[in-house]
Amino acid sequence: MGTENLPRTIEMVEHDGGALAARIVDQRVLPRSLGYRNLTTCGDMVEAIKTLALRGAPAIGIGGAAALALYAANESTAADGTALLNELEDVAKFVASARPTAVNLSWGVKRALGVARSAGSRGVSAADVLDELAADVRAMIAEDEAANRAIGAHGAALLGRDCRILTHCNAGSLATAFYGTALGVVYAASEQGKVAMVYADETRPVGQGSRLTAWELGQAGVPCTLICDNMAASIMAAGKVDAVVVGADRICANGDTANKIGTYGLAVLAKHHGVPFYIAAPTSTVDAVLSAGSQIPIEQRDATEVASFVPDGVCVFNPAFDVTPANLITAIVTERGVFEPESITQALG
Ligand code: MRU
Repeated sequence: MGTENLPRTIEMVEHDGGALAARIVDQRVLPRSLGYRNLTTCGDMVEAIKTLALRGAPAIGIGGAAALALYAANESTAADGTALLNELEDVAKFVASARPTAVNLSWGVKRALGVARSAGSRGVSAADVLDELAADVRAMIAEDEAANRAIGAHGAALLGRDCRILTHCNAGSLATAFYGTALGVVYAASEQGKVAMVYADETRPVGQGSRLTAWELGQAGVPCTLICDNMAASIMAAGKVDAVVVGADRICANGDTANKIGTYGLAVLAKHHGVPFYIAAPTSTVDAVLSAGSQIPIEQRDATEVASFVPDGVCVFNPAFDVTPANLITAIVTERGVFEPESITQALG
């Protein structure tokens, strides 16, 4: 068993009748069933991203770029490449605003817009712009997997034998095109026979750890123990965790890192118990424009995720992410190597 049993999270395919579609794993129905959806419009993609059918920073970056290709393929009536480019400028704003915290979404949308602008400046037809957009989404998918495999190799080198790793949320293959970031480190270490156990936080309120990470590790044959989020402290105190490895949604120039709500608390616990705390993320997650984590927009999600029934007059606070200060992070593992958080901009070359 290994990662060959995992599904491809997002692929560009031909839908019935030959229309371009993005085929995604619908993560809302896992682990009950492994279902796929073929998305054919930009609106379909935005809805999939907002409802977490497609989720995880690298995956929604690819989805954002795919949304522009779907618009060009199936919705635009532009007569030429310049007219299509004008339409895509507006579409890009709509897509990039679907979720605010993961910088990968706006990174993917900007990359697709750059492809369209470059094609438009050469005066090519709308059909050629579409071909270039679709080809670039396929390239992004291949690059993402290669980056994750490199992150895995760099991260595995930091771990010792019989390692017990704690992770939060799902920064696995399902959160990327394939292989994963934090779980990419787990898979690479597992291929080297180094992983004794992965503790997967349940990840309240949406359960990415219980629904996705535990399922994914099971498919790959990696030993996994599911824990409630509030159990992390006691298993660290019991000396059962050798490293915490998590993903990221946005890494600022000073190393402050946004990730799934609860990550900051884990970093505090790891520091207290002398456990190394690693962030694993591709360089597309680094936002060198923001100097510190206080500037990161934190997504607020619907109250029903926290409680299906909220009594009248009761407020619900549901931030989807929190920020871990750089001084609690041991190292950031990227596809270009391992960096001290404060030096993360060096990864951008
Ligand atoms: O709300 P989600 O499920 O999209 O949150 C995902 C995370 O917080 C992940 O840890 C992060 O995006 C990194 S995925 C490789």
